[in-house]
Amino acid sequence: MGKIIVIYHSQQFGNTKVLAEALAEGVREAGAEVELINTNERRVTLDEFLAADAVALGTPDYFSYLAGTIKTFFDDIYQWDQSGEPVKGKPAALFLSHGGGGRVKQPFEYLARRFFEQVGDTVEGERPINEDAKKKCLALGKELTKKVK
Ligand SMILES: Cc1cc2nc3c(=O)[nH]c(=O)nc-3n(C[C@H](O)[C@H](O)[C@H](O)COP(=O)(O)O)c2cc1C
Repeated sequence: MGKIIVIYHSQQFGNTKVLAEALAEGVREAGAEVELINTNERRVTLDEFLAADAVALGTPDYFSYLAGTIKTFFDDIYQWDQSGEPVKGKPAALFLSHGGGGRVKQPFEYLARRFFEQVGDTVEGERPINEDAKKKCLALGKELTKKVK
């Protein structure tokens, strides 16, 4: 069975967490193992990252950029790569939440492209998160799972 980790930052209202959980449900329904990590609570380790067949990444829009802990995750991958660890090329699904701006999408996709093969389109959820954004995350989780089965 494939293993997918959903790595996200959620802090203000739990909006990004709602999207992360919908995506994780899609992964479960499609038959892969899934683990969720809120980077606002702890950092992702190299071993956890290497053990994943694919990842889903989620961030809120903070000042038209990624939340700090998701930026730190990208900083970690860069340095793991520089140390020779095989971190590049995993399939990745992207999702974000925002309060009406959403300009984080461009830097988020730019950073993701440096290390991952993006699967599907980035799901954008404006607060309050509606059913449509949750359905899109559920479907994205299923699409991502097809890449690891
Ligand atoms: C420090 C901070 C900066 C923010 N900056 C933006 C912004 O530039 N554009 C925007 O659309 N929303 C902005 N927001 C709103 C959040 O992106 C939005 O409420 C998001 O859904 C919060 O996700 P969370 O509840 O998972 O933490 C900001 C919120 C915070 C706390």
